[in-house]
Amino acid sequence: MSKPKVFVTRLIPEKGLELIRDSCDMDLWQAELPPSREELLQHVRGVDGLLCLLTEQIDGEVMDEAGPQLKVISNHAVGFDNIDVMAATTRKIPVGNTPEVLTDATADFAFALMMAVTRRIPEGERYIHAGKWKTWGPLTLLGGELTGATLGLIGFGRIGKAMARRAVGFEMRVIYYDPNETKPNPDLKASPVDFETLLEESDYVSLHAPLTPDTHHLIDSEALSKMKSNAVLVNTSRGPVVDPEALYEALKEKRIFGAGLDVTEPEPLPLDSPLLTLDNIVITPHIASASKETRARMAWMAARNLIAGVKGEPLPNCVNPQVYK
Ligand code: DGY
Repeated sequence: MSKPKVFVTRLIPEKGLELIRDSCDMDLWQAELPPSREELLQHVRGVDGLLCLLTEQIDGEVMDEAGPQLKVISNHAVGFDNIDVMAATTRKIPVGNTPEVLTDATADFAFALMMAVTRRIPEGERYIHAGKWKTWGPLTLLGGELTGATLGLIGFGRIGKAMARRAVGFEMRVIYYDPNETKPNPDLKASPVDFETLLEESDYVSLHAPLTPDTHHLIDSEALSKMKSNAVLVNTSRGPVVDPEALYEALKEKRIFGAGLDVTEPEPLPLDSPLLTLDNIVITPHIASASKETRARMAWMAARNLIAGVKGEPLPNCVNPQVYK
């Protein structure tokens, strides 16, 4: 019996590829850059399953181009704003994602950004490379502290809660804003507040909300104007949750202390982005989940979703379980 045909849009860790090779006839996109729209449309034609990344926009056109035999779309990410889930649901195609396995890696990275910004670590490194380190100075590169500070979490799902667990070790006060989590969480010593209170009281504001029409540019100039002057904004969710022009103005005028971004709008961030001219920002190229262990687990999970889908079995992690009703 012939194996189901699948298209995998990039090289993923071997732990996922070996599972797929065993049970599928795999077309693997091996180039460093993602397939162009035309290449994507060409490669999905006739496949039973698609394993894609957040770099591909998977809409109704892609699904129709694949054809009515398409049984599954498996995203190699927990976020799935790159997929038109409604279009998939209408076509009864289950969509898979990779929750949980990247929670700790992402929370670790958000803390790394908080510390890098407030203790000015990349600035310190630039200072040395620029030959400015002449002596030890009591006023050199002063920053803020985490101990005893207030951490405000926008989004209190898996990653938000992992942030709260880490904050306990830093003796931080934790507050959160999440329309789906309105009760206090005594186990994590964290309390819900409204959006405005969170902005006004937090020394660190960390974003852990998915990108939806409601969260697009949630952090705009009005939100930034409510933040404390010593505050640090950290974004490891999706770039468009923050209005980049408003953030640039706030940082340039030092209305907040700094920002740490692992995600930007757009991605990749063009080299002429004004944000790259600032000293009080740390920007990384969307690598919060990029530990070897986490990426291997993501690949394995995305492969399992793909294989279950092509076999017509329920996906281990399905974002639109309505398709099974
Ligand atoms: C995700 O999974 O959504 C991250 O942004 C990439 O790991």
